[in-house]
Amino acid sequence: AFRFRGVVALDGPSGTGKSTVARRLAQRLHAQYLDTGAMYRAAAVAVLDAGVDPGDPVAVARQVEASRIEVSTDPRNLHTILDGRNVDRQIRDAATTTAVSPVSAVPAVRERLVAQQRSIISGGPTVAEGRDIGSVVWPHAELKVYLTAREDVRARRRAGELKLADVDQVAASLRRRDQLDSSRAASPLHRPDGAAEVDTSDLSIDEVVELLVGLALRAASAA
Ligand code: DC
Repeated sequence: AFRFRGVVALDGPSGTGKSTVARRLAQRLHAQYLDTGAMYRAAAVAVLDAGVDPGDPVAVARQVEASRIEVSTDPRNLHTILDGRNVDRQIRDAATTTAVSPVSAVPAVRERLVAQQRSIISGGPTVAEGRDIGSVVWPHAELKVYLTAREDVRARRRAGELKLADVDQVAASLRRRDQLDSSRAASPLHRPDGAAEVDTSDLSIDEVVELLVGLALRAASAA
């Protein structure tokens, strides 16, 4: 059977199906799954729970440096642990989702989490998803993919995930977060060099997964 031994770097904005695709791809490739967004979200939870202002970079850096963030890498059993406490639910709530953009823009936070992400990826074949995997965290990944989708499609998918009816409002907040993530000074979101761009607007999750399994196979035989 085909065994992928490398690293897949999967980047792109939210609403592209990235997380679901990354998890399924990791299962197919018998690889670790690394959700770097969950780590930034846990950092935001640490900040909020400590009563620290997410807009104060010095206080944010200090708080995140004092926190212990752990993630499981089994795509069938995902957990995010902050200082020994399970925060699976909290990392997805609205307050965290708002705080995560300023928190993830702090260079000291990124340095710390990137170091941790590299050490996890070093542990074996990995599908890692985020915003800067192919550009910063693991630029020599055997396969780099940048997922996109039209804005209306992304808003519709996001609204579905959040079970919200107001797609326009979801679109507005998506746009705001994309804008912050793409314009920040530290590791802004962009398509990394050498990444295959895949527009998922008119593809099902299954179709995207199949496409990426094919790309991984080709990348593995080229290596
Ligand atoms: O993918 P997500 O929505 O869970 O990511 C949460 C936030 O973390 C998002 O606003 C961007 C940020 N992030 C980042 O800056 N770098 C990453 N590698 C992953 C996520």
